[in-house]
Amino acid sequence: MLDWDDAPQTATKPDLGLQAARAAAMPAASASYKPSPAVVMNAAPKDAGFTGLEDLTMGAKRIQVDDKKIINCRADLNQLVPFKYKWAWEKYLAACNNHWMPQEVGMSADIALWQDPNGLTDDERMIIKRSLGFFSTADSLVANNLVLAVYKHITNPECRQYILRQAFEEAIHTHAYQYIIESLGLDEAEVFNMYREVPSIHDKAAWSLPYTQSLADENFHTGTPEMDQRLLRDMIAFYVVFEGIFFYVGFVQLLSFGRRNKMVGASEQIQYIMRDEAMHMNFGIDVINQIKIENPHLWTAEFQEEARRMIVEATELEIRYAHDTMPRGVLGLNASMFNEYMQYIANRRCNQIGLKEIYPGAENPFPWMSEVIDLKKEKNFFETRVTEYQTGGALNWD
Ligand SMILES: [Fe+2]
Ligand SMILES: [Fe+2]
Repeated sequence: MLDWDDAPQTATKPDLGLQAARAAAMPAASASYKPSPAVVMNAAPKDAGFTGLEDLTMGAKRIQVDDKKIINCRADLNQLVPFKYKWAWEKYLAACNNHWMPQEVGMSADIALWQDPNGLTDDERMIIKRSLGFFSTADSLVANNLVLAVYKHITNPECRQYILRQAFEEAIHTHAYQYIIESLGLDEAEVFNMYREVPSIHDKAAWSLPYTQSLADENFHTGTPEMDQRLLRDMIAFYVVFEGIFFYVGFVQLLSFGRRNKMVGASEQIQYIMRDEAMHMNFGIDVINQIKIENPHLWTAEFQEEARRMIVEATELEIRYAHDTMPRGVLGLNASMFNEYMQYIANRRCNQIGLKEIYPGAENPFPWMSEVIDLKKEKNFFETRVTEYQTGGALNWD
């Protein structure tokens, strides 16, 4: 029988580049094999972690739980068990239990209200459009950060299992925003381009991009204190700031519609999204704290100051976003309530990752927000009808 590399060049089966890939992956098969300059340039430092794509060694020693590390681990990443970080597996199971799809939520009341010329004020309409403008691209940014920047460098299978689930949830969130935009008949180009056209939306996305770009660089590897801090910086930028600060003005605003029995379908979707996001953030915080436990040398006074500076910048951007989306009081809210709310949130985020509080004494003007996060899917806050789960096809509006 012919071995794969004995096959004639004129094979009729499509090659799909497999032969070249195999040749590159199996240098021993060719005496003349030399790593290309690119491979040499990209070589990881000796303390860098595995990716999960390493060659297998027959009969190698079995993995013990103590071999596992959250970053820079050099034990097999394709074996889920034995578990080391039970919190990651538990969050994966909880996230699966929370599964929902946008089409489960009826939008007919929202459509009727949106189409009624007297249904909503101009200020209310602006909040809806700006929120959709921010969130519709934000969740794609988060998903891309996970898949293209973070995933490879978290060297633990149970954490990766959760990240895979999270990535799917981000796709569901982008789907939900698209579903709302389509249901209401909004100008899709206007909404999806807001992060390039509306300064307060642009500034939040632009603030976060350098952190993911830094990590997605193909020459980036963890394994030195400086590079490991780079990973921590990205984790703080996305899990603590993006999902833990930048989402919160929009969440309060959209949930305030539902509390007043307006845009109940969109508000219900935001409830589900916020529940997912709270878990994403808590997972990220657990990862950050685990990296700190295993690598205390990374958590220098200087690094902590930098992290606090990031949180201050983000809080100011989010407050500016509140003022931009709410030039006048609306839905029982006004922009200045968000000054204190965002300071309260910033303090909470600092406490969660072990930083000194930035705004001592800030209080929560929206205590009802914590009730919303804790609610179960079956008993929802707005008592709107959860439509039957649909496996395909479109919803019928009448
Ligand atoms: Fe999301
Ligand atoms: Fe998220």
